[in-house]
Parts: sequence; C-alpha cells; structure tokens
Amino acid sequence: MIPLCVPEIRGNEWKYIKDCLDTNWVSSAGKYVDMFEERFKEYMGVEKAVVTMNGTSAIYLALKVCGIGPGDEVIVPSMTFIASVNPIIYTGAEPVFVDVCRDTFVMDVTRIEELITEKTKAILPVHVYGHPVDMEPLMELADKYGLFVVEDATEALGSEYRTRDGKWHKVGTMGDIGCFSFNGNKLITTGAGGMLVTDNKNFGQKAKFLSTQAKIVGDNKSFIHPEIGYNYRMPNLLAAMGVAQLEKIEEYLDIKRRNAEYYNSLLIKIEGITLPAEKEYAKNSYWLYSVVIEDEYDIDRDELIGILEKKGVETRPFFQAIHKMEPYLDYKSGDMGITEELSIRGINLPSSVSLRRDDIDRIAGILDSKH
Ligand SMILES: Cc1ncc(COP(=O)(O)O)c(C=O)c1O
Repeated sequence: MIPLCVPEIRGNEWKYIKDCLDTNWVSSAGKYVDMFEERFKEYMGVEKAVVTMNGTSAIYLALKVCGIGPGDEVIVPSMTFIASVNPIIYTGAEPVFVDVCRDTFVMDVTRIEELITEKTKAILPVHVYGHPVDMEPLMELADKYGLFVVEDATEALGSEYRTRDGKWHKVGTMGDIGCFSFNGNKLITTGAGGMLVTDNKNFGQKAKFLSTQAKIVGDNKSFIHPEIGYNYRMPNLLAAMGVAQLEKIEEYLDIKRRNAEYYNSLLIKIEGITLPAEKEYAKNSYWLYSVVIEDEYDIDRDELIGILEKKGVETRPFFQAIHKMEPYLDYKSGDMGITEELSIRGINLPSSVSLRRDDIDRIAGILDSKH
C-alpha cells in the first residue's frame, strides 16, 4: 500500500525522547518545551511562538486572544478541515462562509468584502493543502475594516507569500496570529501538537498564559488564577520530538517540492487532470499533492479513488463543504459554487516524504490507464 501521507522519523527523535525519559522530564515542564518554541520562533522569524496540544487549540486560543466572542462573525472558507471552523463556535461567535479559488483551492479574497457586516470581527484564511491565500489584498481589507486576521497555516508550514515589494513572508506570519499543527500527517509531527506564532507580544504572552491554566505563582508558591484558562500545554516528551523534526524541515520541504515537480511532469500528459497551482506570489509547500479531475478525464473522482484503492494506493478526496454539514446549515455564506464543485472533483494523491520516484511512476501509470 502506498499511504497518503505518513510521518518521517529519521533524525534525533529517539535521542531527544530518550533524554526526557532518562532525566524524568516527561511532562509539561522541561527544556524541550522552551527549545521547541524558541527554534520555531526563529524559523518563522516572529516575536513569539506558543506551543499547544494541537492545532485546534491553537486556533481557539488565537480567536480568544483577539477577543472574538458571542455576537461576532468570522469569515472563513468552507473548503477546509472542520477544525478551522469549530473553534469559532467554541468562542460563541458565528462563521460566515466564503468561496474558494478554482486553481489554488484557498479562500477567494475578492469575495470577502461582500460578506463584511457590522458584526464581522475577524477573517480566518486557511492555506489549504499548502498553497498560500492571497494575503496582501486580504490584509488591506482587514486594515480597511479594522478586522483581526487569524491564519490557519496548519497545512502550509514552510509555504511562503511574496508581497508587491518583492519580500517573501512565511505563511502564518502576516496576520495577527498564525496557527500550526503537528498532527501525524503534517510536514513535521509530534504525534499531536500545535503552535501559534505572532509578532504582537501582548497576544503571545496572553496565549501562553491562557494555555497554561492562566496560572500565576504567588510568593508562597501557591497558584493564583485571575481568569479562566486552559490546559493546552505540550509535554516535554512531544516537544523533544518537535525539536528533532524541525531540524529536518528544509530537507522535507525540498523532497515534497521535487516529488510535486515529478508528479507534474507525468500527469501533465494526461487529459482531464488539472495540476496544482503555484501563483507567482507563492511558494507552495505541496504538503499534499492535490489535483482536480475534470469531465474530459471520462471517469469521475470517486471511481478513480476506487481504482487506486484496489491497486494499493491510498488517496483522500478534497474536503466536503462545511456549510452543507448538519451543524453548519444555518450559518451565512456567499455563493459556494467552486467549493461545491471542488469537493466532488478534487483528490489528494500520496505525498509522504518517503514517497519514491517509482511509487509516483506507478500512481501516474494507474491514472493514465484508468484501471
Ligand atoms: C486545515 C486544518 N485546520 C486545523 C487542523 C487542526 O489541527 P489538529 O489536528 O492538530 O488539531 C488541521 C489538521 O488536522 C487542518 O488540516
């Protein structure tokens, strides 16, 4: 079986985790927690990084820190994983769904303004499958209307965006807060984990405080909690894995890019398959290699998934539109034509770092022969 996207563990993971076990520093304090935050902060080039138990809690904390709550609206795409949207509900605010672009699969920034109301408090762009959202016009809109921007960059660690002045920005660093996930299928993993990054020191400190039970240690070492916090800390054991994984990030990004280029060189010859985009302002991390099955391909996406599965190739259809799911039927949305079309046409092909060229040859062969 060629898996969709599995972890790559070939660095110092065993060494650093053994160090935690040998020294008894396995829980929520320990040097690797600070080290992981520090090194991630350096990698992203931001003022503050706060590690969390997963990406979902990072997004929730980010919204809380921005003061999002009941009565507020947050503009978010519907073509994303459910964890981009559920945290909006956890805060008591409401999602407003915006359509995506046909070529990049991410939030269509030209469709945001028509959805802004007096209640709109934030925009939550999601850099789905690795391609950046068009952040510069999005930030201009946010400035114009005084909105917060919380980036869900969980699927786009290592992707970059170029502003008109020619400067490249790591995805997750342009909004008020950027959120990442280290779930098992992500570019780097801690088994489960997340991180939020920000250049706003107050936001960073507040997020750290809330993620650690909003705890102040008094003079006599007793705990004081001036507000309600959360237990979103990452244990030292997992942070140790994170430090080891982060050491390999550039290598993994290079491999993903080379694999995407090789896929492109083979699949471009097959009629009816639209290849993933990389806009002139973007560096796509190709976290997943994602294509669209057009009518000219003759068989539909779901039939293709079945053929690939029988041949031992694991795939994943694009996200199903969230605005059509039971809990979200009553929320506002713009026209969702592209989201709905992509959700029946899009397919993610195997994208692990360990994917070999002959695996890609085999997958392309099946796509070409359609049996
Ligand atoms: C787009 C998106 N948002 C949020 C998350 C949530 O991350 P986690 O699973 O670490 O909570 C994920 C990944 O699982 C995701 O793909």
